[in-house]
Amino acid sequence: MRGRVTELRRLVRHHAELYHRQDAPEIPDADYDTLVAELRGLEERHPELAEPDSPTATVGAPPSGLFAPVAHDVPMMSLDNAFDLEELRAWAARATSRLDGPAGPYVCELKFDGLAISVRYEGGRLVRAATRGDGRVGEDVTHNVATIGDVPPRLGAGAPEVLEVRGEVYMAIPAFERLNAAREAAGEARYANPRNTAAGSLRQKDPAVTAQRELSWWCYQLGTVVGGPTFARHSETLEFLADLGLPINDAWRRIEDLAAVETYVLRAEQQRHAQDYETDGVVVKVDDFGRQAELGVTSHHPRWAVAYKFPPEERSTRLREIQVSIGGKGKATPFAVLKPVFVGGSTVQMATLHNEDQVRAKDVRPGDIVVVRKAGDVIPEVLRPVLSERPEGLPEWVFPEVCPCPNRAPLVREEGDAAHHCRHPHCPAQQAGGIEHFASRGAMDIEGLGEKNVRLLIREGLIVDVADVYALEEADVVSLENFGPKKARNLVAGIAASKERSLARLLFGLNIRHLGGAVGELLAGAFEDLDSVIAAPADQLAEVPGVGPTIAASVRAFFDDEDNLAVVAKLRAAGVNFAGPVPADTDDALPATLEGKAVVVTGTLENYSREAATAAITARGGRSPGSVSGSTTAVVAGAAPGASKLTRAENLGVPILDESAFEHLLATGELPSAAAPEGTG
Ligand code: IVH
Repeated sequence: MRGRVTELRRLVRHHAELYHRQDAPEIPDADYDTLVAELRGLEERHPELAEPDSPTATVGAPPSGLFAPVAHDVPMMSLDNAFDLEELRAWAARATSRLDGPAGPYVCELKFDGLAISVRYEGGRLVRAATRGDGRVGEDVTHNVATIGDVPPRLGAGAPEVLEVRGEVYMAIPAFERLNAAREAAGEARYANPRNTAAGSLRQKDPAVTAQRELSWWCYQLGTVVGGPTFARHSETLEFLADLGLPINDAWRRIEDLAAVETYVLRAEQQRHAQDYETDGVVVKVDDFGRQAELGVTSHHPRWAVAYKFPPEERSTRLREIQVSIGGKGKATPFAVLKPVFVGGSTVQMATLHNEDQVRAKDVRPGDIVVVRKAGDVIPEVLRPVLSERPEGLPEWVFPEVCPCPNRAPLVREEGDAAHHCRHPHCPAQQAGGIEHFASRGAMDIEGLGEKNVRLLIREGLIVDVADVYALEEADVVSLENFGPKKARNLVAGIAASKERSLARLLFGLNIRHLGGAVGELLAGAFEDLDSVIAAPADQLAEVPGVGPTIAASVRAFFDDEDNLAVVAKLRAAGVNFAGPVPADTDDALPATLEGKAVVVTGTLENYSREAATAAITARGGRSPGSVSGSTTAVVAGAAPGASKLTRAENLGVPILDESAFEHLLATGELPSAAAPEGTG
């Protein structure tokens, strides 16, 4: 017991030092909070182990010596945390029981994720700014704070003789993205997150460096006032500070009772990604100063306020192994197999690692404890290893040389390509992806032929290539697991119906490298039938507007391959439609799935040039404007997308689609439900 308490104190001190002093935390805030909660629990149950200098009794970290010390007139305290509504209710119940009457009304404010500073004005002019430090003594960062545009050098009329206010310095997400983009362009490492970047930017010896960083400030608390009005309530002070020209975030509300506070908290949690700055919770404060005084403070936090913390979007967990999944076009994508961890509202056990360079840049190794992030609807991501927990001698991961399928064909990475590919023409891993793609909604749209069934049919030896699908009979599948007469009948009917699909869909379904749905349409529109596409030399293919030499070469290579021609022959024998659209039929071939919809495209797509993407959208009755607005249906993001478009989409709640979701949208006019992580198959 004593040993664990000592260990926990060491860990908490270590991580507090990294967070407060070095602005470089190693573990997620939620993991830190868990350590503190365990320590606090043990100290409460074993008062004999309490120590006055335990990290549970202190705030932040003492000044570093880099800056001149500043003693705070009124201590800058921390806040008590509530991790769910029950803890919030318990806090309110404790407060109410200490008072004669109710603790409400309350003021609810967003909890900004940055670093606390105190700013002092004398005669309406900024004279000093200090960090929180250990709560009693902070660091003098006046010259740095003076460079922040949101911090007025002078206050408006009616400023008290002395006014000390507190607030949070933060970096807005677009500013953070701009800074990281510039760093990447200069070959420098990206910063981890806006909070630490803001803290590091503020604690610079040279104010010119701070001035280059786009920092912002929200003011949320009155400190010392001399020669000014007196106030009865916190809400009055917020109005007063706003009138003086200080930046008060307008999400704050004065709220009568706890039930309404809970509604506020849940709404703020739902909308936490709607702003362009990060929040990690809601601060609930007792509004009435008389009641605040009655409630008083502990050594660590006031009893009249509490921080409701949003569920964490970052947690650490064990990286069990790194596997590689093979996509329909043979692309080998590494992904992390994790010890399941609950983060961002769901249990995560796999996360894409994108490609070899990403694994190397992040330096994550099988066996590491890694930080996993899952925010909003974005797919889970492995951020970094927790180096202090890395077992000694843990080897680096090397990209497998061969495909995980039984052929063990080499995984090749061509020059200028970030991805490895298996180029084996009969790779079963690739085959499964290829057949899934053939049957998918944007291609031949065969109901009942999804990932699971494709794998099952391959395993049972019933299909090897896409053409084998047309040889399936009810009797072949009826007794397979999860089938039965009805599903077998539906599958075979769905397969038969797919024979009538358009040439464009068939071309797309064949899974030819670089040939996306839009190029399928361009080719189908330019040639009479599949046979004339097969017969066309590369330069004739390349002449089709929107096609070009790369796609043409790849189409040529596909149809020069004997195995592929054999598949085509089987498709013909099965009676699959090879004919291009009869002019009168073009409307049928392209349903107006995007009628009245606006789809913005940003970044580089794999299978669509920008013109091809626009053509695909407009051919379906949609528009493709250059900028994101409230009426945008979706933003399609390829590689290196425009950061401002993405941020705007996030702020406006416009869904962001990857390329496969885009194809789904083109085919159906519907937005897919949240995208599944890549590489989970
Ligand atoms: S009030 C004694 N209000 O959260 C109460 N703090 O975890 C003083 N914070 O140190 C704090 N947003 O850095 C308050 N609206 C808000 C806040 C806020 C962010 C930070 C602040 C504080 C920390 C406590």
